[in-house]
Amino acid sequence: MNMFLVAGARPNFMKIAPIYREAGRRDNISCRIVHTGQHYDYEMSQAFFKDLALPEPDYFLNAGSGTHAMQTARIMTSFEELCQKQSPDLIIVVGDVNSTLACSIVAKKLMIRVAHVEAGLRSFDMSMPEEINRIVTDSISDYFFVTEESGEENLIREGKPRDRIHFVGHVMIDNLFHQLGELESGDGSTRFSTYPLKEKHPEYAFLTMHRPANVDSKESFAEIAEALNIIAQDRPILFPVHPRTHKMIREHGIELCENIVQLPPLPFSESLFLWKDAAVVLTDSGGLQEETTALKVRCLTLRENTERPITVRIGSNVLGGTKKESILSAYRKCMQADPGSFSVPLKWDGKAASRILDILVSSAGKI
Ligand code: UD1
Repeated sequence: MNMFLVAGARPNFMKIAPIYREAGRRDNISCRIVHTGQHYDYEMSQAFFKDLALPEPDYFLNAGSGTHAMQTARIMTSFEELCQKQSPDLIIVVGDVNSTLACSIVAKKLMIRVAHVEAGLRSFDMSMPEEINRIVTDSISDYFFVTEESGEENLIREGKPRDRIHFVGHVMIDNLFHQLGELESGDGSTRFSTYPLKEKHPEYAFLTMHRPANVDSKESFAEIAEALNIIAQDRPILFPVHPRTHKMIREHGIELCENIVQLPPLPFSESLFLWKDAAVVLTDSGGLQEETTALKVRCLTLRENTERPITVRIGSNVLGGTKKESILSAYRKCMQADPGSFSVPLKWDGKAASRILDILVSSAGKI
């Protein structure tokens, strides 16, 4: 089987890594990596490839930033040309970024099968570009690889054929366990520039924030910042800053106190090194809600909703919303919880990529 593995933005890279590794162990699969170039800064892209031990992409489409339409259109045009030249049998897209949407539309129109990894998640919030990407991608995919039961329920409710829906667990958790193993067996974490920071502040919180709804509007960013400045009186907050957020802090003149330590975007391993031992993680990321659940770390999500409800239902995740008082009350709730009492979702066991490839191989020629 001749497949393309598509990635474009930072949260895609850790999802393709375990699929790529697993494909390399099988003789009957040729797997080539297509990087759309949606993310392109060294820290957002190449550093991740290096850290995740991924090879250079076979194809780089150089799409870059822009409005949604510009970015999506650029990815579509280049990807169409590539697919016409290379004629893959199948493409695998992951997650819910613009690259996921753009490449699945192109492939489907060229009659190339589309497998969506992390299918079926729904926030029911159409103001999120990712929700649109998820719905459109699922509306044309041939295989739905689902990470949690809610994904299966959503797809069935939307009328997708049951025999195309496969609850396989989560490739991002495969990668998390792999990276944790590397971190623990490696040359020690003293090589990280943040090592002294972690030593100095044992009871720190870890923060990531980049959602347009939270950072693009001055009013909402300022309100969240007020809550963060109060939490920072309780414990220091280590904050790797996404490029979008960095820009908005400057544009809006957001004031973050000294106890919120701003860092550049970090490689996967260094970020893991910090958040895995944090007293609490504050985030508006989708992936981190799940990764904290897998490692039983407290998580406060800076959003009103989540497309990953399993993390709230059985895990460590508390939805804090985006208002000062709701964030502070969620923070108190989080800190009262005993991480020992959290549980880990079904099939988040490090074997999702292997299940996915078994299904793709056994169904080749049948779909
Ligand atoms: C994208 C995804 C989002 C994901 C996030 C993770 C979509 C719709 N959004 O959001 O789901 O959670 O990636 O990071 O696909 N920029 C740089 N350097 C880069 C990339 C971006 O400076 O390498 C800056 C640019 O100013 C750009 C802005 O960040 O305009 C936003 O980048 P973009 O890829 O459009 O969206 P993200 O906010 O990163």
